[in-house]
Amino acid sequence: MSKTKSAYFCQSCGYESAKWLGKCPSCSQWNTFVEELIEKPASKIPAWKTTQSTQRLNKPSKVSDIQLKAEEKLGTGDQELDRVLGGGLVPGSVTLIGGEPGIGKSTLMLQLALNVHGKRVLYVSGEESEQQIKMRAERITPNPTSDCYILAETSTQHIFKQIEALEPDLVIVDSIQTLHSAHIDSTPGSVSQVRECAAELLKFAKETDTPVFLIGHITKDGTIAGPKVLEHMVDTVLQFEGDRHHVYRILRSVKNRFGAAAELGIYAMHNQGLREVSNPSEILLSQRDEQLSGIAISATLEGARPMLIETQALVSPAAYGTPQRSANGFDTRRMNMLLAVLEKRCGFRLSVSDVFLNIAGGIKVEDPAIDLAIVAAIISSHEDISISAKTCFAAEVGLSGEIRAVNRIEQRILEAEKLGFERILISSFNGKGLSKEKFNIEILEVSKIDDAFSVLFG
Ligand code: TYD
Ligand code: MG
Repeated sequence: MSKTKSAYFCQSCGYESAKWLGKCPSCSQWNTFVEELIEKPASKIPAWKTTQSTQRLNKPSKVSDIQLKAEEKLGTGDQELDRVLGGGLVPGSVTLIGGEPGIGKSTLMLQLALNVHGKRVLYVSGEESEQQIKMRAERITPNPTSDCYILAETSTQHIFKQIEALEPDLVIVDSIQTLHSAHIDSTPGSVSQVRECAAELLKFAKETDTPVFLIGHITKDGTIAGPKVLEHMVDTVLQFEGDRHHVYRILRSVKNRFGAAAELGIYAMHNQGLREVSNPSEILLSQRDEQLSGIAISATLEGARPMLIETQALVSPAAYGTPQRSANGFDTRRMNMLLAVLEKRCGFRLSVSDVFLNIAGGIKVEDPAIDLAIVAAIISSHEDISISAKTCFAAEVGLSGEIRAVNRIEQRILEAEKLGFERILISSFNGKGLSKEKFNIEILEVSKIDDAFSVLFG
């Protein structure tokens, strides 16, 4: 007689334990263990034709003997998405797309489903009804160029039945947390369910060479809900982010087995769905007529894509005992470090001031090359002296106040030149070996923060 078996799973990271634990040994979260029923009978009938696959035995092959299939990447009809995926969709790949509720994941995927030229697409939704999806589809793409089918279903067994009948070229699942497999007893969205459903879809993708997109919810702290294992299982993880109050949305690749990670696609959310933004710098630089203090432009690189981004700082005397520090779109700890460098190495008394920092457009920047622009914006606000709107920056700032080199400096300089900037401040280490004659922009090399300030403020 088979006995039902259960185990405890950490709902945060997916760690499995035979007994309940207060603290997860893997991710150190408290009180995250939930009992889930698991069933591992040897005779279960797997969802995706396992009977065939178990008969196939794989043998080792020599690398030189393996024939490379002419892997054709399927264009999605969306240049931003193609870029983030590393050129297009790879047959048999599974892509997980995560993001906060309401950011536009369903919109992006439906738009993709309606615009893949001449392909048969199955959009499986466990969240919305056919009616709701139809209404949205009418709004974003009234004349679809693809053969798009909608299926409102949550059972993987039923979904596979429909897939077998329809034979789609692309499958989109919205969302993986709503699916449930009959082989697992726990509720949809629990760790073991999510893992099982993803594994079934993964198997389907690999065996039929059909690309699959999975939409995943994220938790409060921004990681993809359910098990971390989901991220390990899939080929590509994309993160859709942005500020809901701004129109811009950023699609970032966090992991990509077929292309460079850290690629970036930019969209703007309109009434008729998401629009691609192909010239990000022009929109991220606010139009201003007069010269204002506290603004500096940085030539950053997101993925392989240069972008000029405006940083704004406000420094004012602290009204209360403890000065306030807040940063939007930039790591607060890094801002505190830069403030400490300014205080200690350059003698600015910032410890008695409130400092607010904002990256324009509601986007997040992780590129260290933004450091010098941030430092310049802070001092510009502190001293109330504006920086010319034709000047931009690309350098990292070190703990001793030295200006450090950043990667791909030529690309950054070229982008600044293209957008009509007249001078750019870079590290003198970057300047070595750089043939400045070929650029049509004044390149100023600095090696210490003090040098940068004397160039800027005299
Ligand atoms: P949605 O794709 O449902 O988000 P998610 O699936 O990530 O939860 O996006 C919903 C938001 O997008 C909603 O707040 C309204 C907005 N939106 C537009 O502004 N324009 C549009 O054309 C669509 C379809 C949605
Ligand atoms: Mg949705």
